Amino acid sequence: MNIMVVGGGGREHAIIKKLRENPTVEKIYCLPGNGGIAADAECVAIGSTDIPKIVEFAKNTGIDFAVVAQDDPLILGCVDELNKIGVPCFGPDKKAAIIEGSKVFSKNFMKKYGIPTADYEVFEDAESALEYVKTCKIPTVIKADGPALGKGALVCMTREEAVNAVKEIMQDKKFGASGDKIVVEEYMSGPEVSVLSFTDGETVIPMVSSTDHKRARDNDEGLNTGGMGTVAPSPYYTKEAEKQALERIILPTVKAMKAEGRPFKGCLYFGLMITPEGPKVVEYNCRFGDPETQVVLPLLKSDLLDIMLATTNGTLKDVPVEFSDGAACCVILASDGYPEKYEKGFEIRIPEDLKDKVYVAGAKLENGKLLSNGGRVLGVVGKGKDLGEAVKTAYTYAEKVTFKNAYYRKDIGKKALNALKEG
Ligand code: AMP
Ligand code: GLY
Repeated sequence: MNIMVVGGGGREHAIIKKLRENPTVEKIYCLPGNGGIAADAECVAIGSTDIPKIVEFAKNTGIDFAVVAQDDPLILGCVDELNKIGVPCFGPDKKAAIIEGSKVFSKNFMKKYGIPTADYEVFEDAESALEYVKTCKIPTVIKADGPALGKGALVCMTREEAVNAVKEIMQDKKFGASGDKIVVEEYMSGPEVSVLSFTDGETVIPMVSSTDHKRARDNDEGLNTGGMGTVAPSPYYTKEAEKQALERIILPTVKAMKAEGRPFKGCLYFGLMITPEGPKVVEYNCRFGDPETQVVLPLLKSDLLDIMLATTNGTLKDVPVEFSDGAACCVILASDGYPEKYEKGFEIRIPEDLKDKVYVAGAKLENGKLLSNGGRVLGVVGKGKDLGEAVKTAYTYAEKVTFKNAYYRKDIGKKALNALKEG
């Protein structure tokens, strides 16, 4: 089978490594991929949002199955266009991807179906939004309606911040047309848990839970990033939280998307906050999370390609989806200074015996050398019988993979381990 994966980060690297375990896989192409992914797939220099070129490539290359892994192409309708030329895809069509593509859609959807989430108001003009934030409860969270590279949610701890957030998004158009509408929402507190799930529109199978570490520095200080590390399973996802999330959020969401005429096929990501009243939805994503995938897929015992094909064909209930009882930890090695200013172009050295523990996000190949080429450069993943062992293993790998100006957090999994101790 010839497979094409659309995207080019650590998440795509994790998907590709797992897909390669299936003996029917002949060739995997990654569009555009990166210098590190090139060790496991043939990278093709086509941008992940260049849908006409992606479709043309799939047609000319005889692609049998496509995995559209990244949010932007999904929201733009890449799956619809590939389906039109007869290429089956793992991933939602445009109508279903709106669950991530529009915050206004997803909030109104949750309200309509009674799915627990923060209370909110929608605004379509800056004047009314500014009027509202003069008196609304503080802290509050202001979100651009459309995609904003994961930066569209602004947590405002003071009224001044809230006023500035409205101005930046609606008047200065910081996120372009994505900020034509905004959601102003109630601030929630509690630990965050990511639950990725496979769904064919009917059956839904949650994967092992995980928790991301979004801030750049230890102790959750510093700026928000694309994610500095993850652990799985998440200790905050207790049996009780899991039961409530399944009954109140996961099953109702899949059923409601079908009822809306938008059946969701692919990986539906539930970003949950475990509040004193139980789990609530912070956000939906229409795809695997990054860097959650790097800890979730290494714990998957079943065959990923079989699951993906079943998800696409509507036969998910017939395939085994099993996870190991162990734990995994991913530590992201970034370029020092990320997410602000940083240097790149430094040679990355990965010991031979660690090659399959490394998931590359931002690197390029030049004259046979792998060079850092982004803020988040790569993730190292340690596994263990429990979280303590996984964290320890990940940090021994982090020390052995080197490049100049590499920076990583030293406390990935620390809070989770403390939470486990406290029970
Ligand atoms: P989002 O883009 O909606 O996932 O939001 C990004 C991040 O902002 C989340 O992972 C949370 O840490 C934070 N956040 C979003 N919504 C809320 C909320 N209602 N209350 C508190 N924090 C939030
Ligand atoms: N880790 C968060 C995301 O993938 O959006």
